Amino acid sequence: MIKSLRGMNDILSEDYERFTYFINLATDIAQRYGFHFIETPLLEETALFKRSVGESSDIVGKEMYQFIDKGGNDVCLRPEGTAGVVRAFIQKKLDKAGGLHRYFYHGAMFRYERPQKGRLRQFHQFGVESFGVASVYEDATMIMMVADILQACGIGYRLQINSLGDQNCMPAYRDSLVSFIESVEDSICEDCKRRKDTNPIRVLDCKNEKCQSLYADAPKLIDALCDGCQSDFDKLKEILDANEIAYEVDTNLVRGLDYYSKTAFEFVSDNIGSQSAIAGGGRYDRLVEFLDGRPTPAVGFAMGIERLMELIEMPQKSREGYYIGSMDAETVDMVVNLTHQKRKSDKVTCDYKPKNLKNHLKAADKVNAKYCCVIGENERKDGTIWVKDLEAKSEKVIPLKDF
Ligand code: HAM
Repeated sequence: MIKSLRGMNDILSEDYERFTYFINLATDIAQRYGFHFIETPLLEETALFKRSVGESSDIVGKEMYQFIDKGGNDVCLRPEGTAGVVRAFIQKKLDKAGGLHRYFYHGAMFRYERPQKGRLRQFHQFGVESFGVASVYEDATMIMMVADILQACGIGYRLQINSLGDQNCMPAYRDSLVSFIESVEDSICEDCKRRKDTNPIRVLDCKNEKCQSLYADAPKLIDALCDGCQSDFDKLKEILDANEIAYEVDTNLVRGLDYYSKTAFEFVSDNIGSQSAIAGGGRYDRLVEFLDGRPTPAVGFAMGIERLMELIEMPQKSREGYYIGSMDAETVDMVVNLTHQKRKSDKVTCDYKPKNLKNHLKAADKVNAKYCCVIGENERKDGTIWVKDLEAKSEKVIPLKDF
């Protein structure tokens, strides 16, 4: 038997209901915030992710579904959504147009990670990207939007924030961090030794306990921010306080993608196991320029839909639509024709197989229909239909012309 690939799931039935419930709810909120839908391809040139997510990241270094296509192009299934949206933004010359451009998207992302609970190789994100606003108010707005979406889903969270500085303060900090790493280099893991040369701040979120204990004494970027980054970070905290959004400052929060500067944030849940990040994002003011666009400030986030599906409180499901069935073979045609008419205005489940009333009632209940409608020999002769309201638990026989 052929099975789905490891870490790649089918989404159907109850899961699909959760999935679409979340997408609809998040879409509604994103539109309320003034964001517009964007769809970008699942497959992009590999160079796009190397230049944006960054060669030093685990995503690019180890996790890409990368191959040479039949035309000899080096391509890759998208591991995340931001790079493609930025590419589209530049390709459509919106960077040159100026002004504000705000997009949301949802879809499958692919990372060749070691699958475990909450960590998939094909997973889905809901994300938003905002271009053209340098102000920290937009960063706060992103966080408020995630908080609104989570609240609407009935999901509790912890919010972690940090500032990653900018080109004014980051280089000097990086030098002091590298000096520190060199002082403990003999004792750190191989990954951190590599990170020291590629992207030293990534050592700060190394999962190795020995490394973590050594880095407790490392210089903190939050203590080395320039005036601009410091005042933006203070303002961000002030806005979150004023809007009663609780947060923790996590000085080791560096995010796994290289394009961030200034604000970085992550929402985590304590109720889904070790893969606890349910949303993450931040500011990436230099990415448009890195991808050959006109310098444009930008900020965004993405939420992991499969992780959220574990936590969503679904609203009580009410009965809906009709179930129509027949009790004898001669009535089946009538039932099919009637169903066709009724489907022009309502949701109808039709059972072509004649069966007794008890079994029809069971089947109607299974599909959560509001009405169970059955035609037997008597109804056929009289031109009527038996209808039971499964909510009100009342039943009656009505002329077909009134149905
Ligand atoms: P990210 O933190 O890599 O950010 O991913 C965002 C979310 O996707 C995570 O918080 C997590 O919920 C979910 N996720 C990531 N990897 C997996 C996986 N293997 N299995 C299941 N869920 C996963 C980004 O992707 C950035 N593009 C976010 C962003 C948008 N930053 C600015 N704009």
